[in-house]
Amino acid sequence: MGYVKLVFLMLFSLLCQLAFCSSLPHLCPKDQALALLQFKQMFPKYAYSKLLSWNKSIDCCSWDGVHCNEATGQVIELNLASYGLQGKFHSNSSLFKLSNLKRLDLSENNFSGSYISPKFGELSSLTHLDLSYSNFTGLIPVEISRLSKLHVLRIGSDLRFKPQNFELLLKNLTQLRELHLDHVNISSTIPLNFSSHLTTLHLDDTQLYGILPERIFHLSNLQFLYLSFNPQLNVKFPTTKWNSSASLQMLHLYGVNATGRIPESFGHLTSLGGLTIVSCNLSGSIPKPLWNLTNIGILYLGDSHLEGPIPSNVSGMQYLHTLYLSSNHLNGTIPSWIFSLPSLWNLDLSDNHFSGNIQEFKYKTLVRVSLKQNQLQGPIPKSLLNHHPLWFLLLSHNNLSGEIASTICNLKTLRVLDLGSNNLEGTIPLCLGEMSGLVILDLSNNSLSGTINTTFNIGNVLEVITFNGNKLEGKVP
Ligand SMILES: *[C@@H]1O[C@H](CO)[C@@H](O)[C@H](O)[C@H]1NC(C)=O
Ligand SMILES: *[C@@H]1O[C@H](CO)[C@@H](O)[C@H](O)[C@H]1NC(C)=O
Ligand SMILES: *[C@@H]1O[C@H](CO)[C@@H](O)[C@H](O)[C@H]1NC(C)=O
Ligand SMILES: *[C@@H]1O[C@H](CO)[C@@H](O)[C@H](O)[C@H]1NC(C)=O
Ligand SMILES: *[C@@H]1O[C@H](CO)[C@@H](O)[C@H](O)[C@H]1NC(C)=O
Ligand SMILES: *[C@@H]1O[C@H](CO)[C@@H](O)[C@H](O)[C@H]1NC(C)=O
Ligand SMILES: *[C@@H]1O[C@H](CO)[C@@H](O)[C@H](O)[C@H]1NC(C)=O
Ligand SMILES: *[C@@H]1O[C@H](CO)[C@@H](O)[C@H](O)[C@H]1NC(C)=O
Ligand SMILES: *[C@@H]1O[C@H](CO)[C@@H](O)[C@H](O)[C@H]1NC(C)=O
Ligand SMILES: *[C@@H]1O[C@H](CO)[C@@H](O)[C@H](O)[C@H]1NC(C)=O
Ligand SMILES: *[C@@H]1O[C@H](CO)[C@@H](O)[C@H](O)[C@H]1NC(C)=O
Ligand SMILES: *[C@@H]1O[C@H](CO)[C@@H](O)[C@H](O)[C@H]1NC(C)=O
Repeated sequence: MGYVKLVFLMLFSLLCQLAFCSSLPHLCPKDQALALLQFKQMFPKYAYSKLLSWNKSIDCCSWDGVHCNEATGQVIELNLASYGLQGKFHSNSSLFKLSNLKRLDLSENNFSGSYISPKFGELSSLTHLDLSYSNFTGLIPVEISRLSKLHVLRIGSDLRFKPQNFELLLKNLTQLRELHLDHVNISSTIPLNFSSHLTTLHLDDTQLYGILPERIFHLSNLQFLYLSFNPQLNVKFPTTKWNSSASLQMLHLYGVNATGRIPESFGHLTSLGGLTIVSCNLSGSIPKPLWNLTNIGILYLGDSHLEGPIPSNVSGMQYLHTLYLSSNHLNGTIPSWIFSLPSLWNLDLSDNHFSGNIQEFKYKTLVRVSLKQNQLQGPIPKSLLNHHPLWFLLLSHNNLSGEIASTICNLKTLRVLDLGSNNLEGTIPLCLGEMSGLVILDLSNNSLSGTINTTFNIGNVLEVITFNGNKLEGKVP
């Protein structure tokens, strides 16, 4: 009998070596299959349509979302992101019996009103834990800090830390690469002691305060840094070369306290694809080296006190698609290189002190143009009136002159046209009344003349129409 068994085992391992193994069942331990089935039963039947494959007559290693160690059969990964699970996640959940789990993703389910159990801290093999967008609530238990092997931690929304526990978490998770805590009420300073492996920090809207440790900018693998909506967070940028300068791809600071100038050291951030420093009390000029960042796609530097001109000798920004410098004190003419950017689709220089003419745009890529509230003069460039993908054209509160060419009606996708408070003259092109997609039309406070056609506004979706302050006759339909 023993002999037959041995032969069978040898045959089995031979078959395995011939790569039949993947089609053979894993050896999912019974207790782990049972733990998973108990977990499933915690949710009402209608709330787990994706767990139908969790059937005890099938090996648990082939259930949806379950991954086992090839050799031992132990369940090491559970990926239940967006599984439509709805119901309480109790702290007696049988999931905590799966002590070999390395990755656990419970994101985008609805455990509405459940607390994060301290027992998560017992899953000591975890390298990835994702509890984001799952409607957990309450305190993040200090026991999470025991998961010292974590590389990736995502926890989100309506949660908070007890004082000091955020500090403890950062100190203890020495292997951490990615930390996502957006919208968690952290209410703490960022301590000095955190993993040197960090690549990604998402800490938007987390009530952080105090001084951001400069060490963050010197993490040599840092790629993504999001710290927006922390008005009490005091950010000072390094003035020398940053150690993250070659790796940093995204830097988003919207509504933090970054009072002062943008240092020239930004010129070293050669991998930067997106830079947002909006509503941050910045002052001074935009440093010249910033215009040398040839990989940049998004540049948002709005709602501050930036001043001075934009340099005229800039080249190589071929990926720049969003240039938002609205609400500063920038002046001088709009340099010609801006009109020749090959990828530009959102240009917003509104509410500054730019003067001079608007030049012709070289490429037809723009979807949104806002140059309103400046001191621009001259005619509306012809290229704009023939700019097919345009949805928003806002040029109000300038000194633009000349007539509104009827070619403007070629802008078939236009939704918002705001030319108010300029010196435009002549008549309103008849065809404007037939533009089918126009929602807002503002031509007020110009020198337009003629009679408003009674057929205006027929068959379109206009919601706002403003013609006052002109020399027009007739009635607004
Ligand atoms: C489990 O699978 C078997 C065989 O495929 C099937 O007969 C049975 O109805 C399934 N049970 C559940 C609970 O889905
Ligand atoms: C787990 O706890 C909840 C509430 O505390 C209880 O209703 C449920 O029966 C418990 N489940 C098990 C398997 O003990
Ligand atoms: C979380 O709960 C809120 C309110 O109960 C609900 O609007 C939201 O959709 C829920 N989120 C998920 C992912 O189910
Ligand atoms: C989430 O669950 C709560 C409580 O079970 C429920 O009131 C709410 O409607 C759910 N949200 C969604 C989007 O299903
Ligand atoms: C921090 O980690 C150490 C060992 O890695 C552990 O002994 C300690 O309990 C952890 N502290 C907390 C608060 O989890
Ligand atoms: C955040 O938590 C602190 C205490 O930890 C509390 O004082 C504050 O009101 C909370 N903020 C919000 C927006 O919930
Ligand atoms: C940071 O934490 C580590 C591990 O807990 C400790 O060895 C080190 O002394 C701490 N460093 C500082 C500056 O607190
Ligand atoms: C930058 O990196 C170098 C080399 O890895 C290191 O010696 C230096 O201390 C780092 N600087 C900072 C401010 O972290
Ligand atoms: C912003 O930081 C400056 C110093 O850098 C400080 O004087 C000011 O009080 C801070 N403002 C807020 C709202 O914290
Ligand atoms: C910008 O880059 C060019 C070459 O790519 C270089 O000649 C110039 O010195 C740089 N300017 C600044 C301010 O870094
Ligand atoms: C632009 O503003 C600066 C001060 O912010 C001023 O010195 C300069 O003369 C202005 N240039 C123009 C062309 O208005
Ligand atoms: C009003 O528009 C219609 C067609 O768009 C045109 O036939 C008519 O002559 C116009 N009337 C005036 C007074 O311009």
